[in-house]
Amino acid sequence: MTVKEFLKKARIAIIVWLAIWASIQFAKSSQSPSYSTRSFQNNDFKKEAFNILNNKCNSCHRKQNPFMIFTEKNMDKRAHKIKKQVFELKRMPKEEGTPLTQDEYQTLSNWIVNL
Ligand code: HEC
Repeated sequence: MTVKEFLKKARIAIIVWLAIWASIQFAKSSQSPSYSTRSFQNNDFKKEAFNILNNKCNSCHRKQNPFMIFTEKNMDKRAHKIKKQVFELKRMPKEEGTPLTQDEYQTLSNWIVNL
């Protein structure tokens, strides 16, 4: 094979390789936006949900039920209990507490269904 022929083959190989690489990059980039949007959204729900738990629930639990103080770390594990007390039995927030607004119920349920 002459040098010229070799260079021609090498050029073709590089072009083929680049085309494969580019299509892999494209496939990756067309997948990731939906994934990151979703996790970003979940995170948002969680932050808002935590604010509600902290303002409307922890305020009372600190005095009356100190074993059930919600944190960003433990809230996911306790979601099923929260769901039961708030949505199913409607026991929480207790009468002496401030009721949840419609928006706050919505935020809590968005967080729970996205877990
Ligand atoms: C005014 C006080 C008060 C407020 C406000 C309040 N709680 Fe409670 N919560 C209590 C007390 C007292 C208990 C323990 C006795 C009981 O279960 O009734 C309790 C228990 C719980 C339990 C455990 C129940 C069980 O048996 O597993 C959960 C879960 C809970 N609360 C969630 C919430 C959530 C979520 C909110 C806010 C939306 C909230 N609470 C607001 C007083 C309150």
